[in-house]
Amino acid sequence: MSEPVSILKLMVKDHGKLEDLINVLEEKSHENFDTMKEAFHKFEWGLEKHIFTEEKAIFTSYNPEDISEGYKMLPELTKQHNFIVNTLNNWRRAVRNKRAISTSEIYSFKEFLNRHREFEEEKVYPKLDESLSEQDKQHIIAKINEMV
Ligand SMILES: [Fe+2]
Ligand SMILES: [Fe+2]
Repeated sequence: MSEPVSILKLMVKDHGKLEDLINVLEEKSHENFDTMKEAFHKFEWGLEKHIFTEEKAIFTSYNPEDISEGYKMLPELTKQHNFIVNTLNNWRRAVRNKRAISTSEIYSFKEFLNRHREFEEEKVYPKLDESLSEQDKQHIIAKINEMV
């Protein structure tokens, strides 16, 4: 018997990769600007792809049957994603203007991302895996695999 299909499992793996990338960025922020910049661009690319995948390939397929439970999560998720995208935009602008991103800025964003990750891994993805059909999940997983 094959294992049940799980979007959660795939996304946990990608969350782990992003955690590694922000840890490298944090480390490099103690060094020189160019090293920090290189680590920033790797982290930025990974996180942009991740958010794109979540918003365009995963959450768009979510039509919760349990309206009150399901739809409650979406505004919160959108709010958190907006914060993430805004932070990336600010940092991108800073780096373009040769301003280093400080270790403390990185640390507090890391804390935010950890809470966001917990929210998705404990509430959003389990709910999604439970409410989608196996076939829908297969389609979503094929898209995720193209991206991450
Ligand atoms: Fe997310
Ligand atoms: Fe995520």
